[in-house]
Parts: sequence; C-alpha cells; structure tokens
Amino acid sequence: MRTKISEKFAQLFGCEGEFFAAPGRINLIGEHTDYNGGFVFPGAVDCGIMAEIKLNGSDKVCAYSIDMDEYAEFGLNEEDAPSQGWAKYIFGVCRETIKRGGKISGFNTVFAGDVPLGAGMSSSAALESTFAYALSYLFGLDTDRFELARIGQATEHNYIGVKCGIMDQFASCFGKKGNLMRLDCRSMEFEYFPFDPEQHGYKLVLLNSCVKHELVGSPYNDRRASCERVAAALGQEFLRGATMEQLDAIKDSISDEDYRRARYVIGEEKRVLDVCEALEKGDYETVGERMYETHWGMSKDYEVSCVELDFLATVAKECGVTGCRIMGGGFGGCTINLVKTELYDNFITTAKQKFAAEYGHEPKVISVVISDGARKLD
Ligand code: GLA
Repeated sequence: MRTKISEKFAQLFGCEGEFFAAPGRINLIGEHTDYNGGFVFPGAVDCGIMAEIKLNGSDKVCAYSIDMDEYAEFGLNEEDAPSQGWAKYIFGVCRETIKRGGKISGFNTVFAGDVPLGAGMSSSAALESTFAYALSYLFGLDTDRFELARIGQATEHNYIGVKCGIMDQFASCFGKKGNLMRLDCRSMEFEYFPFDPEQHGYKLVLLNSCVKHELVGSPYNDRRASCERVAAALGQEFLRGATMEQLDAIKDSISDEDYRRARYVIGEEKRVLDVCEALEKGDYETVGERMYETHWGMSKDYEVSCVELDFLATVAKECGVTGCRIMGGGFGGCTINLVKTELYDNFITTAKQKFAAEYGHEPKVISVVISDGARKLD
C-alpha cells in the first residue's frame, strides 16, 4: 500500500511527503451504548487508512483517493465543501480543526485503505483519525487524542450526517497492540485490557456478510432518537444507568418500538460489564453467551440486523462457536466470532458452504490482530 501511495504522490505532486496511518476497529461487546453514555469495549485492528501528506503553501487541499481513483481539490472555508463523499471526510476534519482554533493551510495528499468498506469496521473513523492526527502533527497543534477523536466524531455529525457516538474514533486514536479498551462514554475514563484469546485456546474472527452496511441516512439516527426520547421520558440525560423497572414504569407513555430499543440498550450495559469481569477470570464461555445475547437483542429489539447476519449467527451456534454477534452499527457488515481453536476450521468451512448455498456468495473471513492507534510512520 505504501509503495502505491508514494508512486502516485510522486507522479501527481513531484515530491515526497510524510506518512500517517490510523486503524479501523473491532468491538467485542457494547453496541449502540456509546451515544447512551454507556460502556464500549473496542480494540484497533491491523488494517486502516494510510496517507502521504505534504504542505503545499497554498490555501487548497489537493487530494487523491487510490481506492476510488478520484482526485478532489477544495478550499478550507465552510463554503468550499467538495462533492465527492470521501473528500467530505477530509474537508470535515480540516473544518473541525479550524473551529477549534487550529491554524492550518493547504496540503497535498494521496491515501489508500485496507479496511473493508461497509464491513462495520469503521473505515470512516480511520480516515478521520489519520487526517486529524496528521494535521495536528504537521501544523504543530499538539491536539490531545480525545480531541482528535472528537474532531472525527464532529465530522460525522456536521459534514456526513451520522449522529454517531465516540467509540470508533476513540478506538482509532487510542488503540494499543494486544489490548482492548473499555471506555465509559459518560466520564470518558478508559482502561486497557490485555486480550489474547489464543492463549486460552480461542480465536477471534470476523465473517463479512458483504451486505453493505451504510449508516448514512436515517436508520442509525432513528435509533439514537428513540433512546433520547426514552431518556427524556425518564428525566435523564442518557439511558445509561436506567433500570428495567424504571423503563417498565413508563411503558405506557412511550411507543412499543422505543420501549424495545431502550430494553436492548439497558441489557447491553450490563453485558459489557459481565464480559469484562469474565475476561479477567479467563471465563470465555460467559463472554460468548453475552455475545449471542447481544446479537439477538440487536436483531429482535434494536432491529439493526439483517437476514444474512442472523443466518451467520445461527450457523455459528450450530457449529459450537462460543460467541457470535453482529459487530458495529448493524444493517449489514460482519459478525464477530469467538471460537475454540479446535472448532475453527470446521466452522469456517461450514459457514462458507451454508452461506453460499443460501445467498450465492461466501462470507469473507477476516482474522483479527489487535494493533496500535493513529500514528506517524517512519
Ligand atoms: C457505529 C457508530 C458508533 C457506535 C456503533 C454501534 O459504528 O459510529 O459510534 O454507535 O455504530 O455501537
């Protein structure tokens, strides 16, 4: 990837820049909890976005996306928004940096990625974090990593239209090799958890259904709006901390749909804490049970699954996989599977065969390597 980028950069701009990268993420458990002030449990992965960047002394950004094979040029003022979807992310990061007082000017860039797009592995957070980190470095802004994550999140809110939580950008900025991170999205306190399932005889693997997950548009924001309505009905800022008893007490004053969505979120908060506790004891069976509970909660109550992902979760169960669930925002993308090493080969073969027989193509197998967050490359 690096060679491709530098060849293109030299061809377009006739010089050399500096290299930056930021990863996508997995999330072991804690889905749709971030914007509810709850806990998430992500880790950065070994694939992401890489960009070569050099300041160009103008007030224009000249950007080329290798994966889209497209070039875009845009200014740094609010009215200069580019039309290309991918360029909006870079523009948004520039604007959000400027809004926070960062003095920046034009630059040339070529970038590429190896996070599967639409797989629910946060390719967009990887893109945002790469540029947020790079701008801070190149312009000597010394932005702290939480602020880098907020720049990415605000880009989604203000320039893409997805009212996401902070999990993806947090994971992309704070990732640490071999560690998951439990983040409390209300206090923003977090803790690294060394995570080495292989040592305990398990593998963590993603199966990409290749159903394109797309959060832009209403379904994601709708879920968030439901949660906010219920929190307001409970007189709370967030759903975090609400109990099932409190929810049942207001059942008649909210819609059935909002009730089910809130029920999922309240259950999920407890599941994250259970999983952390179980992990500390090496109790992977409990981890797995909670993962299945999350899957069916996301499917039946939160309604962010699809038939393909439900199919993969059912096959996983039949194959004796310890834990399996939809990962990320939902509406397509991957399942994340915790599987005993000795069952791994059979699971992968069976899942491929059965899925292909039903849907005409195999799911893509993605092995997970937990890696570092946003950084400058040597
Ligand atoms: C997307 C969002 C995150 C989070 C997840 C669901 O990835 O970007 O903020 O809400 O969905 O857990």
